[in-house]
Amino acid sequence: MAGVAIIGSQWGDEGKGKATDLLGSRIDYVVKFNGGNNAGHTVVIGDEKYALHLLPSGILSPGVTPVIGNGVVVDLGVLFEELDHLTERGIDVSKLRVSGNAHVIPEYNRALDQVTERFLGKRRIGTTGRGIGPTYADKINRVGIRIQDLFDERILRQKIEGALVQKNELLVKTYNRRAFSVDEITDNLLSYAERVQPMVGDTSLEVHWALETGKTVVFEAGQATMLDIDHGTYPYVTSSSATAGGVATGAGISPRQIDRIVGIQKAYITRVGSGPFPTELHDADGDRLREAGGEFGVTTGRPRRTGWFDSVIARYSSRINGFTDIVMTKLDVLSEFERIPVCVAYEVDGQRFDEMPLSQSDFHHAKPIYEYFPGWQEDISGMQHFDQLPANARAYVEAIEKLSGARISAVGTGPARDHIIERHNLLG
Ligand code: GDP
Ligand code: IMO
Ligand code: MG
Repeated sequence: MAGVAIIGSQWGDEGKGKATDLLGSRIDYVVKFNGGNNAGHTVVIGDEKYALHLLPSGILSPGVTPVIGNGVVVDLGVLFEELDHLTERGIDVSKLRVSGNAHVIPEYNRALDQVTERFLGKRRIGTTGRGIGPTYADKINRVGIRIQDLFDERILRQKIEGALVQKNELLVKTYNRRAFSVDEITDNLLSYAERVQPMVGDTSLEVHWALETGKTVVFEAGQATMLDIDHGTYPYVTSSSATAGGVATGAGISPRQIDRIVGIQKAYITRVGSGPFPTELHDADGDRLREAGGEFGVTTGRPRRTGWFDSVIARYSSRINGFTDIVMTKLDVLSEFERIPVCVAYEVDGQRFDEMPLSQSDFHHAKPIYEYFPGWQEDISGMQHFDQLPANARAYVEAIEKLSGARISAVGTGPARDHIIERHNLLG
């Protein structure tokens, strides 16, 4: 039995989709356990490029059963758009399973996400505007709507009525927006009920049995450690548990069923949206990273903020998640730099921090202390063997491995499926 978690170790967009795809032919199930259509995973297969938001990336691999776990928030309109789009492109999506306990994103939560951001002004989080935060808030407040509610119109209507009492108050009185009617929300959600019903089941039990019968199950995270609601740079985070700890609750399995925990990290670092970012570059190097790495959001198209590799964050992520392996992506993007700085610690008001500072203000003021590595300035795109890499590139990987606190089992050398160096078997 093998449960393998794929976790973002930075601020997202590390290449989790590509890592799942790499394992595609060797796995039986892929389970999304957190987040919703705020995620954007790009997978490149031959000449084809796929952008997935709500569906787990493993859906692209023939034979794999994709699962949307109870910890996910589901925009049903987006779900069917994505499924139709993939079907048009010849992907078999018929095996998809959806947890009856997953929450749905009603339209009023999209409206609230967008309007609260606008009102926050300079203090905005920079959310994706997909209604993620308000829907998780409803779940915690116990006024959320679950997929299983769609199959009992009376209960669904009651729940929507209850939720709208507060939602409309906020939308109309605080934000000067229009109210939603119980009928329009109910009708909208009911319009998906018949189509979703055959996919819905007890995915916790199904995944349990898959593991018990020796199947390989990948748990694919959306977002990442530094965006985790508990362990990220709060309040500049998403609203779910994106770390390894979230796998058990979000998929409904035991922590004992997770055998490997694979951290995905870029050879540098990026962030989308607001919030502190110690190694952020505001200069020509930052632009070069953005251009060479194609660092523009898959979901919102926003340019990603770019910076040098931060090993304080890498060590923190390794510890919080307990990485057994790391996949380092995008080493090829660094090829053009003569000298590559790596942040090894922070300085805050004259004091050195080797670990993440506890205080939010300290982290906001953290200045990176850099060590410099010689570049290789040679095209490494598409290389598949570690020995092929120039000596300086190998030295960079080995140095990052030491700084990160877990072995680097694979190194990405380009966006394509086979642009990867596997040093250790991720499932072994
Ligand atoms: P995710 O959200 O973690 O799945 O990552 P995204 O798909 O949002 O962003 C990662 C981007 O990097 C995608 O465009 C990938 O195609 C691309 N990518 C992944 N690995 C590599 C790599 O090793 N080299 C290069 N150049 N691009 C990569
Ligand atoms: P993947 O899975 C990068 C960021 C948003 C914002 C914050 C909160 O592709 O790595 P939300 O809409 O979730 O309430 O926004 O989190 N964010 C992401 N950044 N990659 C993602 O997903 C993200 N999902 C959310 O930009 O700062
Ligand atoms: Mg992404």
